[in-house]
Amino acid sequence: MSDSATNDGDGAATGGPASGPGEGTRAVRAGLPEPVKHEPTLPGPVFAAHFHLPGDPTGPYTYGRDENPTWTHLERAIGELEAPGRTDVETLVFASGMAAISSVLFSQLRAGDTAVLPDDGYQALPLVRAQLEAYGIEVRTAPTGRDAQLDVLDGAKLLWIETPSNPGLDVCDVQRLAEAAHARGALVAVDNTLATPLGQRPLELGADFSVASGTKQLTGHGDVLLGYVAGRDAEAMTAVRRWRKIVGAIPGPMEAWLAHRSIATLQLRVDRQDATALKVAEALRGRPEVTGLRYPGLPEDPSHKIASQQMRRYGSVVSFTLPSRARADRFLDALHLVEGATSFGGVRSTAERRGRWGGDAVPEGFIRLSVGAEDPDDLVADLLRALDETAG
Ligand SMILES: Cc1ncc(COP(=O)(O)O)c(C=O)c1O
Repeated sequence: MSDSATNDGDGAATGGPASGPGEGTRAVRAGLPEPVKHEPTLPGPVFAAHFHLPGDPTGPYTYGRDENPTWTHLERAIGELEAPGRTDVETLVFASGMAAISSVLFSQLRAGDTAVLPDDGYQALPLVRAQLEAYGIEVRTAPTGRDAQLDVLDGAKLLWIETPSNPGLDVCDVQRLAEAAHARGALVAVDNTLATPLGQRPLELGADFSVASGTKQLTGHGDVLLGYVAGRDAEAMTAVRRWRKIVGAIPGPMEAWLAHRSIATLQLRVDRQDATALKVAEALRGRPEVTGLRYPGLPEDPSHKIASQQMRRYGSVVSFTLPSRARADRFLDALHLVEGATSFGGVRSTAERRGRWGGDAVPEGFIRLSVGAEDPDDLVADLLRALDETAG
């Protein structure tokens, strides 16, 4: 692992021997049941719509929309990474990140309540906003950077934070915002998708919920849709669980098992990908055609100061802008090692011109690059070659 892959100098602790097993050890063992002779280390997916249930319907496993043993193992694994050593945190898995996000917002808010959302977050949030407003919930938005959400907190019931934000990669001070929100009686949820639980632990920073799309770097192979909510408020989590039951946005057992299998390599992948992301950002910053370069791990990045205090790794996404839409499209076409695709966090690098979706407030030449697990030198060479070939 490169020194720069893990923020073990000026910022948050990496979780080594002083605080129990290290992160790699915890990741490979996360959520595993006690060994049973002749049984596999990680039990296979349990495909069951219902479970044998004669007599009184007592749990834990009754009906497949409510519980499944494969989810139980995965929920333990995610909980051990989001909240190591804590027994007061409950984790629930969902069919997708959006299912997880919706479960928090729609289970906690009622008509007449006010929610504060970021105005620069994941591009489905405006759709969520419209739905909340249709249910009579007031929604205020403010940018992630410079903790601007602080200014619109008065009277809010719930604060939704996305840090680093997607795709702009701004970072806000979770602890500061959570204290201000709690002082006003508001719950705090953090979208932890981009950082992963090995990048930051929102619950330790004071959030009530850490919510994420497991579709991205948590599972990392671009083959699973998944989401989760980890929360420390038992009553709030009961409502989230009830929401999952009534909406039925549950992951399939195969997806849950694949996700758990992927978590064993999470530390390997984030260390590799995040270290390469920094190298890529360093290589791009010298290029005259690149503007608006963002990576929270770059010392000169506007997000670096707060990121270095609350994050242990800076993520695998780099964003930047090329002079025009045409140049950006030519550049993306010229890449050999970077697939044109949306999403991020996978072992194979992907990139896209974000403006093609129309939802984000970004320039036409804005590119979101997700750095994969390729050899760093190969990737940097491919990016620089594509820039050279499409110049002029
Ligand atoms: C920050 C963030 N949160 C949530 C989501 C939604 O996740 P999913 O696609 O798994 O529903 C995404 C998807 O890109 C995302 O980038």
